[in-house]
Amino acid sequence: MQTESSTFEPLVCIKRIDETADSATFEFKKLDDGLFEYKAGQFLTFEVDVAGELEYRAYSLSSTPSQPESVAVTIKRVLGGKVSNYLLDHLQAGIALPAMAPAGVFTLQDNPTTSELLLMSAGSGITPCMSMARWLLDTKQAVNIHFIYSARSEDDVIMANSLIALNEQYDNFRLTRILEQTNNTDDMQGILDAPLFEKLIPDNRGRTIFTCGPAPYMQAVELLAEQSGFDMDLFHKESFVALDNSKELVASGVSYQAVAPQYGKSFKVAENQSLLDALEAAGVPVIGACRSGVCGACKCKVTGEIETTSQATLTAEQIAQGYVLSCSSKAYSDLVVEL
Ligand SMILES: Cc1cc2nc3c(=O)[nH]c(=O)nc-3n(C[C@H](O)[C@H](O)[C@H](O)COP(=O)(O)OP(=O)(O)OC[C@H]3O[C@@H](n4cnc5c(N)ncnc54)[C@H](O)[C@@H]3O)c2cc1C
Ligand code: FES
Repeated sequence: MQTESSTFEPLVCIKRIDETADSATFEFKKLDDGLFEYKAGQFLTFEVDVAGELEYRAYSLSSTPSQPESVAVTIKRVLGGKVSNYLLDHLQAGIALPAMAPAGVFTLQDNPTTSELLLMSAGSGITPCMSMARWLLDTKQAVNIHFIYSARSEDDVIMANSLIALNEQYDNFRLTRILEQTNNTDDMQGILDAPLFEKLIPDNRGRTIFTCGPAPYMQAVELLAEQSGFDMDLFHKESFVALDNSKELVASGVSYQAVAPQYGKSFKVAENQSLLDALEAAGVPVIGACRSGVCGACKCKVTGEIETTSQATLTAEQIAQGYVLSCSSKAYSDLVVEL
């Protein structure tokens, strides 16, 4: 049975742009040429067949919703990563991939914002920030954008030409590239530390930060913002991986009984097992994409007692109705689960 949250639509890749040695942008359109509806900062979850195994991964849109005929995602190779390597090695114009509808709440509309925006990113974390900048500029919003991007060297700057073009075209867009190695005097050399943060952001007046990047970068930006007295209600972050992987599972021997009546499944959920793992082991067609409480793909409705570590992407209404993210939930009683 398909639920609204697990509906996939084939999107056909119409263009590939190699950005750096280890990243590329892929543009997609709908098979029927229909228009896309999304908010800048949202992501798509793709279903990818890698050697006969279906894998699900989220990729933030780097395109602007104001040009809805197509969408683009920008993918960076992760060392040893199954899907990023597969897509960068195989995905070309003409190939179709099933994708879920755009989702996510790392958006300008879902968070308190001001007109002084700091879009701070590193590595592949540039994607949602780029989408926001493109949308704000394309729709002529009354904002000032300071786009701060960190990378190892000039060769590692993703969407380098687009960033330079925005910087040249718009008075209300300012680009700062922080590169570990650079001879270009327009760039800042080094890594984002307290003195550099203070130089770039001399005061906190009315500024909003949206930040995305590798876990250590995000932790550094958050710490620097806190230490500088930034109003953390105006600090918004998107993680591509779980920031806290420190919780180790300890086998307790306790388990609960669960049923998924839609699929005629009855199964056990161990006390320290994620509900997602238990659903998958029972053959319930739940989708685990990020597996870290970030993307929302594994959402399901639960009756019973659950302890959950993430409710990201769930609305207050969904939480009230009993929806949880199964990857971030553990059972504390017998459960009834619906997808
Ligand atoms: C909401 C959301 C948006 C995302 N947007 C983008 C995007 O715009 N562009 C993009 O390139 N990726 C993005 N990602 C990450 C993407 O979904 C995959 O996780 C990534 O491509 C790695 O998948 P993989 O199958 O290659 O690696 P896997 O086989 O899943 O993992 C291999 C190893 O790499 C580690 N790992 C997984 N992901 C990362 C990562 N991002 N950085 C470092 N180590 C990692 C894993 O912990 C594991 O040890 C996003 C993730 C989320 C949740
Ligand atoms: S799989 Fe992404 S939130 Fe659970």
